[in-house]
Amino acid sequence: MNQFAELVARQVRSDVAALPERLRRQPRVTPRWQRAINIDELRAAARRAVPRAVFDFADGGACDEITLRRNVRDFGRLALAAHVLADVSELDTTTSVLGERIALPLLGSPTGLSGLLHPRGEIGLARAVHGAGSIYVLSAMASHSIEEVAREVTGPKWFQLYMWRDRALVSEVLERARAADYRAIVLTVDVPRSGQRERDIRNGFSIPPRLTLRSCLEGLRCPRWSVAFVRDPRVAAANLQGRGIAPGDAVRFAEYINEQFDPRLQWADVTWLRERWSGPLVVKGILRAEDARDAARLGVDAVVVSNHGGRQLDHAPSALAALPGVVDAVGDDAEVYLDGGIRRGTDILKALALGARACMVGRPLLYGLAAGGPAGAAFAMRLLAEELRMAMALTGCSTVTRLDRTWLTGVDRL
Ligand code: FNR
Repeated sequence: MNQFAELVARQVRSDVAALPERLRRQPRVTPRWQRAINIDELRAAARRAVPRAVFDFADGGACDEITLRRNVRDFGRLALAAHVLADVSELDTTTSVLGERIALPLLGSPTGLSGLLHPRGEIGLARAVHGAGSIYVLSAMASHSIEEVAREVTGPKWFQLYMWRDRALVSEVLERARAADYRAIVLTVDVPRSGQRERDIRNGFSIPPRLTLRSCLEGLRCPRWSVAFVRDPRVAAANLQGRGIAPGDAVRFAEYINEQFDPRLQWADVTWLRERWSGPLVVKGILRAEDARDAARLGVDAVVVSNHGGRQLDHAPSALAALPGVVDAVGDDAEVYLDGGIRRGTDILKALALGARACMVGRPLLYGLAAGGPAGAAFAMRLLAEELRMAMALTGCSTVTRLDRTWLTGVDRL
């Protein structure tokens, strides 16, 4: 028996020695976030990993967060009508957006200041989305600049723009996005001013962060985050730095950004942009059918049905509830994407069945980034991709592009 045990031990030792160095150095204990089996559990891991004010900045919505909750809950109003005996041995999740093939119908939404969650911020997010074969949309308010992300991330990228008061700044940023090979511009139109994020107010959240007893205690609770933050604090919108403001004058810089949101914006400004950007143009933040039709009439190539993840107008309808009206209104005149509330693979499937060409996802990627850095964001993408494949198999859908409303019941209850 002893001889047998010795033989097994020797075999194990030689197998381990044959492993590549990188594999052998893997930690033996799986980090807790990697044990998350769904996005909700990844959210819980994110909550543990970063200070409360940082978690709430990413997780929170406007006012009573009614729209934030609606975005997620309305998916539960639709039931899936599965086809059986449909041969789902091969599943095809590929589709195309604005002429570009993507392996998964799920784009990365633009999220500003993602470097607060992890110093790699948008670079980590973009790599996670590219790892899943899709497109990342870089926020105008990103912690990493247009050029930094272009340098470090080779996959396909779009750039999200706000139509700032200072049009020279808009033109300059457009030119930079063009030079750095961002393939489409996504104009966000639901921020004539910033919504009231009450968690941020309650937490005293500010850019730059203030040092208080509470923030210091929270920093001690999250040592990994704190060390990373002290080494490389990413607290500013990198694309807007300079602008005649002294380096390090973060207070004046924050004021400058707030002044730039322009409440006078109107449709003529979309025309202004259409004339200056000859590439694909997307408008994000549409909820009404006639707005979608107007956008298409002005030559916009795609609209994103979105309420900014419930961070702007509270009591707005969920993105899902607004989707069918927009899809019916634009027909083939523009592509339609759904953004907001995606937490499950079945959510993606339902949105596509309602007529969205693709979906976009914000917070789930941020939960992954907060919990596990860039690897955590990639993990979030994989969770959603795997759940989508599961949903396809169980509903008898082998190809995402075949989905239509016959796969759903309850559309009239939305
Ligand atoms: C956002 N969102 C956003 N949208 C945008 O057009 N420009 C931006 O800079 C930001 N910034 C931003 C920061 C954070 C922390 C969040 C959570 C969201 C909105 C985002 O693009 C998207 O519309 C929502 O996140 C979609 O909802 P889900 O997927 O988070 O439910």
